[in-house]
Amino acid sequence: MSTQDELKKQTGYRAVDDYVRSGMVVGLGTGSTAYYAVERLGEKLKSGELTDIVAIPTSIRTKEQAESLGIPLVTLDTHSKLDVAIDGADNVDPGFNLVKGGGGALLREKMVELAADTFIVIVDESKLCDGLGPGFPIPVEITPFCHEHTIRVISDLPSCAGCKPVLRMGSSSNNKCDGDEIAVTDNGNYIVDLHFTGNIKNVPKMAADLKRVCGVVDHGIFSGMTSAVICAGNEGVTVTTP
Ligand code: 5RP
Repeated sequence: MSTQDELKKQTGYRAVDDYVRSGMVVGLGTGSTAYYAVERLGEKLKSGELTDIVAIPTSIRTKEQAESLGIPLVTLDTHSKLDVAIDGADNVDPGFNLVKGGGGALLREKMVELAADTFIVIVDESKLCDGLGPGFPIPVEITPFCHEHTIRVISDLPSCAGCKPVLRMGSSSNNKCDGDEIAVTDNGNYIVDLHFTGNIKNVPKMAADLKRVCGVVDHGIFSGMTSAVICAGNEGVTVTTP
């Protein structure tokens, strides 16, 4: 296992150990870090250390992993309130604003994590940044219908000035720009990644402007949602709260 994978495992395991208790409804994130939280939850259910858990996955990929581990699954349709959700992030700024959606699951992640009483973000230290923008492009989920038009409307927003929009390519929903077909999300939509060279000046304004564009389903800026960030680095694991 690479050092970075070891850090991802430490943060994922710590989140389950510290925040999941028997009887809870748990949101399961998506990505290579969230993978370890799901693994730990499966392990603790199997050993009987945790009982009476139901979980809500945020992607088909996570659903399949959870099913393979025997984790009982429900949906937001039957459980509108979660006790805790645990997920990775692509970037975390000092104000606990996140960029998410590198794995293409931002819509389901946002729906599930907004419904959680506690939202735990698990990252290795490479994800920490001074400001959102240059470290990771902002993913925006858009409808396939007239997507080129929607992309033009987005790039014309004053709050998105200077961004370079790139339609995500990939052969499956969760690929990261590595195919010659347009990537399609679990919801049948496309993703445009907004590349910035400098820090975004007004993140809340940009988030609100994007949300108002007809054709935009949602975006990967998660603000005001984080309860704690568990960050694993070479010096150990730290837990910070807003
Ligand atoms: C998926 C996400 C992931 O949480 C994010 O991309 C981080 O993934 P990883 O832990 O693999 O770096 O938002 O949509």
